[in-house]
Amino acid sequence: MIAPSILNANNMHLANNINAAINSGINRFHIDIMDGHFVPNLSYGPELIKDLKKEFPNIEVEVHLMSNNLDQMIPLFVETGCDLLEFHIEAAQSNTQKWLDYLKENHIKAGIVLNPATPIKEITSYLPSLDQLLLMTVIPGFGGQQFRDDSAFRIKEAVQTIKASHHNLPIEVDGGINDITAKIAKDAGAKIFVAGSYIFNKNTIKQQIDKLAKVIS
Ligand code: DX5
Ligand code: ZN
Repeated sequence: MIAPSILNANNMHLANNINAAINSGINRFHIDIMDGHFVPNLSYGPELIKDLKKEFPNIEVEVHLMSNNLDQMIPLFVETGCDLLEFHIEAAQSNTQKWLDYLKENHIKAGIVLNPATPIKEITSYLPSLDQLLLMTVIPGFGGQQFRDDSAFRIKEAVQTIKASHHNLPIEVDGGINDITAKIAKDAGAKIFVAGSYIFNKNTIKQQIDKLAKVIS
């Protein structure tokens, strides 16, 4: 599955760009929420998600929450009607299970996100509560960065960790995904591919989605 990140899309053409992606077969969007603290960048607030769900009720929205302020931010984004919420384990630390339970109680699919420097083994005890695992393949904060060389190794390690505990959940990758790196990530075991600048900053949106879809099919 491809989950486009609109972070680097032209905000003045957002609805057109989203429609073009949907017409090219997309049924999930990845929305990057940055609060200027966890990462040195700012992006959107809850209103964007509400509008997105209002305009496109059948399209899944996953929120990638890059914030340390989970007490405030998780309830705020749960209220938006998003389908899936992914928060960073580096931000939640010992509250990780509490937030996973909170998402389940609110009928929102739950994911945790690992930065490139965070050991894969940290996910082990949370596997029964996860719908998805997001591995960052860049240091989060900005679109348009290069896919890190250690990513394939980390994806394989996550596949092994999940298998060893007899769980079955998809691994998603985020950062520097293009037609070459998507193939590397797919071969390592990734199933969901977030792509931003590759989709929205080159050629037409349809051409880019078609190329990526071919590589990961
Ligand atoms: C980075 C974000 C990504 C990013 C992807 O912090 O989480 O979702 O926007 O953009 P590209 O595909 O350009 O790396
Ligand atoms: Zn993201």
